[in-house]
Amino acid sequence: MKNQIKLLDKEFVLFIEEDRIQNRIIQIADQINNDYKDKIPTFLIVLKGALLFAADLLKRIKVRCKVEVISAKSYGNEMESSGTVKLKHLESNFKNKDLIIIEDVIDTGLTMKTLLDDINKYEPNSIEVAAILTKPNAIKTNVKIKYVGFEIDNLFVVGYGLDYAEFGRELPDIYVLKV
Ligand code: PRP
Repeated sequence: MKNQIKLLDKEFVLFIEEDRIQNRIIQIADQINNDYKDKIPTFLIVLKGALLFAADLLKRIKVRCKVEVISAKSYGNEMESSGTVKLKHLESNFKNKDLIIIEDVIDTGLTMKTLLDDINKYEPNSIEVAAILTKPNAIKTNVKIKYVGFEIDNLFVVGYGLDYAEFGRELPDIYVLKV
């Protein structure tokens, strides 16, 4: 692991190490395994940012489950949310399903609000959200996130699925923009 990295024109410093992320995921998976022991949850991965978190979390799920993907885009190549969210999903039927949406970060919450409004039309039995990061100081909507990895300040972070202009997603640690 490097303490400092450069992506295009920006420098970033180490913020949350891989070991801490993985240890937290073990705890979240234990919680989900317990909460869904009598159910068959469907995990809905929100592309692209949630890819790494979803893979690590799913490897620790012990209950029988299904996996679906959806694409949500709000940032473009900018560092702030654009305010409009584009959703793309396959023809999925979520009726009566117990859904667990997997996200990398809940920032303003606009993406999750849009997604929840869309998914609710399919009349699932239940919906919960798992996010490796939330930013309580940035949130502008009232979405409930049941499984939270880390609450962080309103900072620009990359790594572990999160990108800066599409770079940095592959990093196993999370980095913060150097000020
Ligand atoms: C990021 C992230 C969330 C959303 C959070 O997605 O993955 O989906 O923004 O921001 P919000 O709470 O302010 O809506 P992005 O649009 O960057 O797409 P990506 O996952 O493909 O990187």
